[in-house]
Amino acid sequence: MKLNSANVNVMIKACRKASKTLIRDFGEIENLQVSIKGPGDFVTASDKKVEKILIEELQKARPNYSILSEEIGEINKDESFRWIVDPIDGTSNFLHGIPHFAISIGLEHNNEIICGIIYDPIKDEMFIAEKGNGAYLNNQRIRVSSRTKLKDCMICTGGPKYGSVNRELSMEEYKKFSSRVLVPIRKLGSAALDMAYVASGRCDGFWTRNLNYWDIAAGIILIKESGGFVTDFYGENKYIENKTILVTNSKINNEMIEVLK
Ligand code: IPD
Ligand code: CA
Ligand code: CA
Repeated sequence: MKLNSANVNVMIKACRKASKTLIRDFGEIENLQVSIKGPGDFVTASDKKVEKILIEELQKARPNYSILSEEIGEINKDESFRWIVDPIDGTSNFLHGIPHFAISIGLEHNNEIICGIIYDPIKDEMFIAEKGNGAYLNNQRIRVSSRTKLKDCMICTGGPKYGSVNRELSMEEYKKFSSRVLVPIRKLGSAALDMAYVASGRCDGFWTRNLNYWDIAAGIILIKESGGFVTDFYGENKYIENKTILVTNSKINNEMIEVLK
């Protein structure tokens, strides 16, 4: 049984509180699917509500920390500590009533992510990692998988998402990848959970383009603390600048880089 640091406890508390609203709102979606107006506005409002609760809780506990959150952007305070928040990662799933989305919070200290939480409120799965303290799913230690050959693996990716230009993996890139390797590819719709699934060995790798920092902040520490690798498509550390991210169990890293070339 691990001992959470005070900052991890702050994140857990904020997640638990916000997830009550999230679960309640998700229950409403089914009714709205069949209404003429659809659930679009409701989901936007829910996203903002969840974000507000998270930020209020985080600020209450740590009034001096800065925040970067998807909907409201930056709140600049203390320069050394910053929360990175995605209130709902997997909004398209949420909107369609598909129970696969998560709250994601990372904590940066001097520009390095030192702890992170990815919480799937529907499955009640809480993925937590802290620098030097390992990665956990509901208090059980998790590790990346040990598969060494890409052909035996399960790989996750994002997109393609039409309607927003060049936001994600292009259809050409997806086809190129799948024609090169015969490997099951999953597009589950939440980058945060994709990373959590690699950290817990459910999937072996994840690659995508054009993600934002709040999509991956908590995932980065989960992967590092579970024994995986996070790089860009070229195996370098520049996944933020280059806007390409490759996450693996470490063993298939070189093979993935070759295939993505
Ligand atoms: C999205 C999800 C999705 C990924 C998109 C992200 P959102 O985040 O992580 O899996 O493919 O690129 O924008 O919009 O649901 O917070
Ligand atoms: Ca989001
Ligand atoms: Ca997101």
